[in-house]
Amino acid sequence: MKGEIKVSGSKNAILPLIAASILVEETTLKNVPRIKDVDSMLGIISYLGGSFTWLGDQAVVINTKNLEFKPLPDAARKLRASILFAGPMLARFQRAELPYPGGDIIGVRPIDSHLVAFKDLGVRVIKSKSIELSTDGLKGGRIILDEPSVTATENLAMLAAGAADSVEIRLGAAEPHVQDLCKFLVKAGLEIEGIGTTNLKISGKVRTKSVEHEVLPDELEISGFAALAAATHSHVAITPVDIEYLDSVLLQLRGMNVNFKVNARTLEILPPDLAYRAHRIQSGLYPKLVTDHIPPFAVLATQAEGASLIHDWLYEARQSYIGELYKMGANTIIMDPHRALIIGPTPLHGTEVVTYDIRAGMALIIAALVAEGQTIILGIDHIDRGYENIDGRLRELGADIIRQV
Ligand code: EPU
Repeated sequence: MKGEIKVSGSKNAILPLIAASILVEETTLKNVPRIKDVDSMLGIISYLGGSFTWLGDQAVVINTKNLEFKPLPDAARKLRASILFAGPMLARFQRAELPYPGGDIIGVRPIDSHLVAFKDLGVRVIKSKSIELSTDGLKGGRIILDEPSVTATENLAMLAAGAADSVEIRLGAAEPHVQDLCKFLVKAGLEIEGIGTTNLKISGKVRTKSVEHEVLPDELEISGFAALAAATHSHVAITPVDIEYLDSVLLQLRGMNVNFKVNARTLEILPPDLAYRAHRIQSGLYPKLVTDHIPPFAVLATQAEGASLIHDWLYEARQSYIGELYKMGANTIIMDPHRALIIGPTPLHGTEVVTYDIRAGMALIIAALVAEGQTIILGIDHIDRGYENIDGRLRELGADIIRQV
C-alpha cells in the first residue's frame, strides 16, 4: 500500500467536549470524527432539549441554551462515555441521573472513582436502577483519585465549573484528550493550572456564551496506521499528527526497527530497511504508552524477529484479539489475563475472526492486510464506534477491503 492517510479528530477528545457543551450556550467543534459514538452523544444532547447543526462534514454547532434536566435515556447505557454527562449536568442543574454505562467488553471498568470524588464535593449518590446524583451546592476541594481514570478526571474538571471553590485533582489522568478538554474549559472562562500533568487545579466560572474549538488529531489512529503501514511494509504518510503527544509511540516504533520520519504535522512510515525486532509492548500511564495503543503493535510483533511481551496492566479482558491472531497463524502464548507472548515472524493467513472492542478491531484489520488470502471480520460495529470510514480510507491506500452489510 502507498499514499497519504488523513487522521480524524480524536474520539476520546470529542466525547467529553460534547458533554462540556452543556456548560456554554453555543459550542462550535471542528475536526469532528463522524463516528457512531459522536452520533450517540449528540443524540443525548437533543434528547435533553439541546440542538445541533452540522457545518459541512467535520464541524458541528451545538446549542444547549434550552437544555432542561431529565434523566439520561436508556440508550445511554450502551455508551460508557455517557458517564461524562454527570459532571456538566451537576454543574448546571445540580442533578444528574444516568444508567450504569456500558461500552467495550474489555474489563470490569467500575466508575467508583467518579462517585467517590462526587461525594467528596457535596453530591448525594443514590445507586438504584440508575445512578441518581444531586447536590444542594457543589463544594470545592482537593480530590485524590484512587485511580487515574481518564473520564473521572474529565468529569471533575467539568463539574468544577459549578463549584463554589476551586477543585484540585491529584493523581489524575494527563492524556492528550484530558488536556484538550482543559483547553476548551479555559476558553470558556475557567482557570486551570497543571494542564498536561497529573495534578490539576480548576477555579473560576464559565464567562462566555460561545466557544469554538478544534479537536486534536486522534493519537490512537496515528499509532494504528503506523503499525498497519509497518506490518504491511508500506510507504504511508500519516497526517495531521501532533508530535507533542507521540513520544511513547515513536519510542515503540524505534524499538521495533520501524523505518520512519516525523515532523510537526506528518509521520511517514517507510518500507523497512532492517528486519523488525521483537520488543516489549507494555502499557503505562500517559505519557507512557497507554493501553489503547497496544493491539495494533501486537500485530506488528507477529512480523518481528523474536518474542515480544504484550503486557496490558489495565484491562483484564482485552486479549481476545490475541486468540484471533492465533487462528490466523500467529505464534502466541497467553500467559495470564494481562500478559501474552508473540513470537515472530510468522506469515498470517486469512480466516473468520471476531472483534469485541474498537482497538482489537483495528488490530484485526491490520492482521487481515498482512495475511495471505481473505479474512472476514465480524463485530465491525465496534470499529465504526471509533474509526470514521475506515474501509474507505484504507481503500485509498490500496487495501482490498469491502464492507458487507
Ligand atoms: N483502572 C484501574 N487502575 C487505574 C486506572 C483505571 O484499575 O489506575 C481501571 C478502572 O477501574 C476501570 C478501567 O481501568 O475499570 C478503565 O479506566 P478509566 O476509568 O481510566 O477508563 P475510562 O475513563 O472509562 C478512557 C477511554 C478508554 C481508555 C481508558 C484508559 C474515553 C472515552 N475512554 O476510559 O478508551 O481505554 O480511558 O486509557 O476516554 C478506547 O478508546 O478504545 C477506550 C476504551
